Amino acid sequence: MTPRANTMRATQPQAPSAEAAAFGEAVLKGLSSPRKRLPCQYFYDAVGSELFEEITRLEEYYPTRTETAILREHARSMVRPAGRRAVLVEFGSGSSRKTELVLAALEAPRAYVPIDVSQSALTDAWRRLQQRFPGLEIVPVNSSFCQALRLPARVHPHAKLGFFPGSTIGNFDPPDAGRLLAHFARVLGPGSRLIVGVDLDKDARRLEAAYDDAKGVTARFNLNLLERINRELGGEFDLTRFQHRAIYDRQFKRIEMHLVSRVAQTVPLLGRSFQFAAGESIHTENSYKYSVEQFRALAQGAGWRPARVWTDAGRDFSVHELTMSDPTGSGCD
Ligand code: AVJ
Repeated sequence: MTPRANTMRATQPQAPSAEAAAFGEAVLKGLSSPRKRLPCQYFYDAVGSELFEEITRLEEYYPTRTETAILREHARSMVRPAGRRAVLVEFGSGSSRKTELVLAALEAPRAYVPIDVSQSALTDAWRRLQQRFPGLEIVPVNSSFCQALRLPARVHPHAKLGFFPGSTIGNFDPPDAGRLLAHFARVLGPGSRLIVGVDLDKDARRLEAAYDDAKGVTARFNLNLLERINRELGGEFDLTRFQHRAIYDRQFKRIEMHLVSRVAQTVPLLGRSFQFAAGESIHTENSYKYSVEQFRALAQGAGWRPARVWTDAGRDFSVHELTMSDPTGSGCD
C-alpha cells in the first residue's frame, strides 16, 4: 500500500499515508507497553480479510454459520418493525454477506449504508449487491465505525435500522462495548433500531478450538499481523519465531489470542528495537462472550431498550433487537 522510498530515480522520500502513520503509531505504542499488545482492527488487510473468510468456513468456527442460520430463519420477523423504505446502516460491513439476508427481507429498502475501513471491501460488496438488488441505492461510507460520523444527508431524515452482526462487539471490553452501542445510537438517530449479533459463553474447549483450528488458519490469521508490519512498516519479524495461542479466560469471559515468542529475540522496527523474552507474548485480540441476560444489561446501560432475542437451538449464538428508549431524545451527550 505504501510505496517504499527505494526507487531507482532520485525522488523525494515518500511521506507515509495517514493510514500507514496511524498503523505505525499504534504498533509502536502496543509493543512499547510492559505487556505487549497489538490492536486487532489491523488483522483485516487484504490477506487478513481473505484468511478471516476462510476461518468463517472452518468446521470449528461455529459463529458465522450459526448466526447466518438464525438470520435466514428470522430475518423477516426481525426487520418487520422497520417497515417500508427503511434505511439499513451496517457498522463494519466487510464482505456484506449476511446483509443480503436482511436486504432481501426488507420491503423496498430506501438505501443501504455500509460503513467500513476497507475501501476494497466496500467496492466488492457494492458490485455484488448492485447485481442482486438492482434498484437499491447504496451509499458507502469509508470510515471506521468507531469514528464520529454523520450519515450522508439524503438518508439522514429517515429512521434507520442499524446492523452490527458477527459478534464484532466481542472485540471490545464491556465498558468500551457500552460506549460503542451509545455511539451507534447517536449515529442512527431517534426512532432507530439496532440488530446486533453476539456470541454466547460456552464450554472452554469448544471456544478454544474455534480460535485454534486444526488446519492452522487462525494461526496464519494471527501471524499475518506481524507479516503486515513487515510489509507496510518494514519490520523484520521472523514468523517462525512466534507461536499462535488462544486461551479462554473464564473470569473475563473472553478468548484471548496471543503471539508467543518461541525464543529470546530482538526485533528492529521503525528505528527502534523490541526485545522479547522466550515465552513472552503479544496480546493481539480479545473476543468477549456473553449470556443473553448480560448482553441485554449492557445494552440497557448504554441507553438502548433490549427487545427481542433470537438464538439457535444449541444456544451457541444470539441476535438481539435493540430499540431506542427515548425516541424524542436528542441523542446528544
Ligand atoms: C470478527 C471479531 C467476530 O472474535 O470471533 C476470528 C475475529 N478472531 N478468529 C471473533 C476472529 C479469530 C472474530 N470477529
